[in-house]
Amino acid sequence: MIQNPKRYTITAALPYTNGPIHIGHLAGVYVPADIYARYLRLQDRDVAFMCGSDEHGVAISMKAKKEGVSPQEIIDKYDGIIRKSFQDFDISFDNYSRTSAKIHHETASDFFKKLYDNGNFLEQDTEQLFDEKANQFLADRFVVGTCPKCGHDEAYGDQCEKCGSTLNATDLINPKSTITGEVPILKKTTHWFLPLDKYSDFLREWILVGHEKDWKNNVLGQCKSWIDAGLEPRAVTRDLDWGIDVPVAGADGKKLYVWFDAPIGYISATKEWAARAGKNWEHYWKKEQDGTTTTKLVHFIGKDNIVFHCIIFPAMLKAEGSYILPENVPANEFLNLEGNKLSTSKNWAVWLHEYMVDFPEKQDVLRYALTANAPETKDNDFTWKDFQSRNNNELAAIFGNFINRVVVLTHKYYGGVVPEPNALLDIDQKTLTELAAYPAVISSSIERYRFREALGELMNVARLGNKYLADEEPWKVIKNDPERVKTQLFVALQIASALAILCEPFLPFTSKKILKTLNIKLNNWNIDFTDWNMVKAGHQINEGEILFAQIEDAEIQKQIDKLEATKLTNKLEQAEVVTIALQKEPITFDDFAKMDIRVGTILAAEKMPKANKLLILTVNTGIDTRTIVSGIAEHFSPEDVVGKRVTVLVNLLPRNLRGVESQGMILMTNLPDGKLVFLNPDVDGVQDGETIS
Ligand code: 2FM
Ligand code: ZN
Repeated sequence: MIQNPKRYTITAALPYTNGPIHIGHLAGVYVPADIYARYLRLQDRDVAFMCGSDEHGVAISMKAKKEGVSPQEIIDKYDGIIRKSFQDFDISFDNYSRTSAKIHHETASDFFKKLYDNGNFLEQDTEQLFDEKANQFLADRFVVGTCPKCGHDEAYGDQCEKCGSTLNATDLINPKSTITGEVPILKKTTHWFLPLDKYSDFLREWILVGHEKDWKNNVLGQCKSWIDAGLEPRAVTRDLDWGIDVPVAGADGKKLYVWFDAPIGYISATKEWAARAGKNWEHYWKKEQDGTTTTKLVHFIGKDNIVFHCIIFPAMLKAEGSYILPENVPANEFLNLEGNKLSTSKNWAVWLHEYMVDFPEKQDVLRYALTANAPETKDNDFTWKDFQSRNNNELAAIFGNFINRVVVLTHKYYGGVVPEPNALLDIDQKTLTELAAYPAVISSSIERYRFREALGELMNVARLGNKYLADEEPWKVIKNDPERVKTQLFVALQIASALAILCEPFLPFTSKKILKTLNIKLNNWNIDFTDWNMVKAGHQINEGEILFAQIEDAEIQKQIDKLEATKLTNKLEQAEVVTIALQKEPITFDDFAKMDIRVGTILAAEKMPKANKLLILTVNTGIDTRTIVSGIAEHFSPEDVVGKRVTVLVNLLPRNLRGVESQGMILMTNLPDGKLVFLNPDVDGVQDGETIS
């Protein structure tokens, strides 16, 4: 572990620009990363907080295919929506870049070249899955099949989302193209592999020994099981048409694997930022001249990204040689929504851009609810009722209430001027001493990536303030001992100012509002907390504003109704699929066996007089020659059908059609253009009268 790092490079997983982002993304990655970055800045630490759009890979190509537009159109659209959501929630990235940026293409290309030149890759002719119909190799999400590790039958070509295993497309059992639904063939192609097996000892030592004490158990557990299972060479190139070109001769038409280029996106984002901010990007990514590491690199990700950030990217960095390795990868588990897995395809999500329409200016409420219920050690559930209760019973009733009382009383008794305190009594001293201890307590939780715990301690500061006021009752004391109230409000104002600063990493909008009301500036956490004197006697404060308005039942019901509507839509869509597949009631085998279907030949045909649709057919069924009236006259003339081999249902009860008894039915089907054709049993050697079963 690095002691006293000189600087921090904080990364948050680059979101794929194939859709907007939802509360799961915010809870799992961006809010914790933002709390951490904001906290460090308040500690006066040197921070580079990097993110950007992940714009390559099959996820983007698939979305483009589905919408019938170019990948560029897709990435531009969602890059815009995602950026806006991050701005709306004030995620304080120092840079939000894109992997389609020129600087990223160059950086990823150079990185690959360096490893290639070092001889770090294995070049191998391999057999890969190929979709003959689409004339395309099937990598990653272009292929689904059964996971060989857990049996999940919707595993992707590079990863099973159920058990988290990383896979090669050829590992899948019963693979199927997601482009055409075809079963792929194997076709030869050359690729470059990172021999992860060679890094196994290094990874074991670095993670399982070196970080045994400071990495989260869920992360260590996943790493251990991969390393123990034996790491294998991993292809870092693909036969795709969207991505970064493989920068070596003979690799025409090949692209870098998206998980090779995406984490390098953190580096290119840093370069872009450094150029703008007049910094040296290498300070944030490279080892010192003497080989030591003085920058703390921390990756914030969701649990499905662990293998890429703990195994593959570190192996790439190690192979390159001059880069630092992550100090921590505090991956979160998943957030569910009202008991079900968040799902983009099923629209089971609270989309941030929609939240902003329904709850404008309530970003902190969501940040709070998601942190208080963060999936830090296990999957957790977001419910709208919990959201309402977090706002009404915690933010409004505890936090907002305290600030409001202090501000209102200061205005009421002193015209908004901070009073000069008298001698501090024991309770004042005790309260201020307790207050002074909180920054360290909150720091300690944040430094250990325990953001829920840290938020709980922040709320304890507000509780301390409420308890102080409730015990001291300045509104009663004012009648008999107004001098004492000056001290009480002075103490309460110190707690309010502490809250304004301590809440900034968690509730940046609220922090701004309280700072404005108290008429003070954001201060760092290194001030002497035992002598907190942020609001001095004589200082004028401003009028307050409501920090957390009540959220009414009707607002919550509207959200619940919206989800119910989504459920209904999903059910209907599913029902439609079933109806198409099963147009008739299911039957038993015995029902089917009742039908006597035979091969026959049409011997003669004539038009039914005065009927446009009917032909009168004479059919040899092998067991007899009979008359069948068939509604095919609009598709066939009598001469067309004479001599045709057909399939006949021979035990259909006779029916009288226009005075002619029809003794059976000829089976037909349609071509895609609606043209009617006979179900033709014309296989060599099949005789009339042969049964079909
Ligand atoms: O899982 C995802 O959404 C990926 N786009 C995360 C990429 S993180 C990084 F490596 F770029
Ligand atoms: Zn699996």
